[in-house]
Amino acid sequence: MANKTPCEIGIIGLGVMGRNMLLNMADHGFTVAGYDKDPNQVNSLRMEAEHRTIHDTVDIQAFVAMLRRPRAMLLLVPAGPIVDSVIQDLLPYLEQGDLIIDAGNSYFKDTDIRTSNLKTKGIQFLGIGVSGGEYGARHGPSIMPGGSKQAYDRIHEVLEAITAKVNHEPCVTYLGAGSSGHFIKMVHNGIEYAIMQLISETYDLMKRGLGLHDDQLRDVYSEWNKGELNSYLIEITSHIFAKVDDKTGKKLINAIVDVAKQNGTGMWTAKSAMELQVPVPTIDLAVTMRDLSVFVQERHASSAIYTRAIGSIKTPHKQFITELRDALYTGMIIVYAQGFALLKVASDQYQYDLSLEAIARIWRGGCIIRAALLNDICAAFHAKSDLSNLILAPNLSPKIKEYQESLRKIVSQTVEIGIPIPGLMSALGYLDALRSNWLPANLVQAQRDYFGSHHYERIDAKGEFHTEWGEK
Ligand code: 6PG
Repeated sequence: MANKTPCEIGIIGLGVMGRNMLLNMADHGFTVAGYDKDPNQVNSLRMEAEHRTIHDTVDIQAFVAMLRRPRAMLLLVPAGPIVDSVIQDLLPYLEQGDLIIDAGNSYFKDTDIRTSNLKTKGIQFLGIGVSGGEYGARHGPSIMPGGSKQAYDRIHEVLEAITAKVNHEPCVTYLGAGSSGHFIKMVHNGIEYAIMQLISETYDLMKRGLGLHDDQLRDVYSEWNKGELNSYLIEITSHIFAKVDDKTGKKLINAIVDVAKQNGTGMWTAKSAMELQVPVPTIDLAVTMRDLSVFVQERHASSAIYTRAIGSIKTPHKQFITELRDALYTGMIIVYAQGFALLKVASDQYQYDLSLEAIARIWRGGCIIRAALLNDICAAFHAKSDLSNLILAPNLSPKIKEYQESLRKIVSQTVEIGIPIPGLMSALGYLDALRSNWLPANLVQAQRDYFGSHHYERIDAKGEFHTEWGEK
C-alpha cells in the first residue's frame, strides 16, 4: 500500500517472524512499514494484512522514506553477516538520530561492535531479544531490550503494546546497558536447551524404563503441567505425544529422527559462561547432548560393542513417576539457578546493571521458558536483589531440600539400568558440589604446583606457596 502518513516504526525482514510482528503492531494501532528485498515475502505480507493499513516495499530507500523522523526500524533477519549487510544497505539513507533495533538472536559481542560503530555515525542501535517463536511474534512475545535507555524510551510504547501480558503487566521492560538484551536472550536460550534436555530424559525414562506408550506420556506431561511444573515446554511436550502423523496415521514423534539440531545460542551461553568462569554444567551438557546425538554412526557402533539390556525399574510405576516429577522440578530450579548466576556475573563484568527480578518478571509470559516457577524466582530476587545463586533463596531452598532425595533416587536407579540421563546427573552434581563445605580442589592445587610450579594457597597462612615435591 502507498504511504500517506509517515510510519511510526518499520520492520526489515518479512519472514514469518517479521510479518507476524508487523501484523501485531498494526493490530495495536501503530502505523507500520515493512521492507524485504524478496517480493514473495512482501506479497505474503499483503495477503496476511487483509484490511489492515500496512505499508510495504521491496525498495530500501522507499522504506526509509516511509518512516517518521527520527526513524525507528526493527531488523528481523538471521543473526550474523546479514545484519551487517542490511545495516550497510540502510546507512546511505539514514540521518543522525535514527534508530536501528536488532531483534534477532545476535551474538552479544557483535551487538557491542555494531553499537559503537553506528554511534560514530550518529545512529542509535538497540539489541533486543525476542522470544516466543512465530506465535509469540503475532500474539505477544517476551521482549528483552538492552542498550541506551533513551533509545528504548523512544519505542517502549510499541514494545509494551505488542508483548505478552502477565497480570496486565507487559513482558518487556528496559533491562540494561550495552549488549545486555542479546546477552539475556542468549542465556534464555541456554536455559531453554537445558530444560528441553531434562524433559527429554524424563521421556526416555518413562518410555524405555517404564514402557509407557505415547498416550500415557501425553497424560503424564499434561498432569504435570497442572501443578508446580506448569510451563510452556511441559505443555507442548504433552501436545507432541498426542500428535498423529498425516502420512502414517501413527504418532508423529516416532517418525522423527533422534538427532537434535541447533542454531548456536546454547553453545554461546556455554562459551560465555566459561569465559566468565561461571559454572553452568546442565546448560553445557544440554549443548553436548545435541552434539552427541549427531554422531549416529558412532552411537550405533558403540551400541553393538557395549551391548547391555536396559534393566527394569524396581520402584512401583506410580511412585517412580511422582519421584521423576520431583526430580525434574528440582532440575529445573537448578537450571534457572545456573542461568541467573551467569546473568549476575555478566551484569557486573559487562556493566549491564541488570535487575534479575525484572528479567524473571518478563520471562513469566510470552517466551519459551515461561513457567510458574518464575513467580517464585521473581519473589526470590524481590526479597534479595543481589542473590548470587537461587539455590540459596529462602523461598526455593525448602523445595530443593524436599525433592533432592527424589532426584538422587532417580539418578542412582538409572545408573543401574543404563539409560543416559546426564542432564539430571549434572544438576545433582552441581547441587552436591555447591552444598559441599569441602572439595578436593586442594589436590588439584598440589598437582599444579607439583608439575608446573603454579603455587598453592594454605589454610593456615596467607600468600602463595611452592614446594619441591620430589621426583618430577
Ligand atoms: C525463542 C527461541 C527461538 C529459537 C531458538 C531455537 O525464544 O523464541 O529460543 O529463539 O527457536 O533459537 O534455537 P536452536 O535452533 O538453537 O534450538
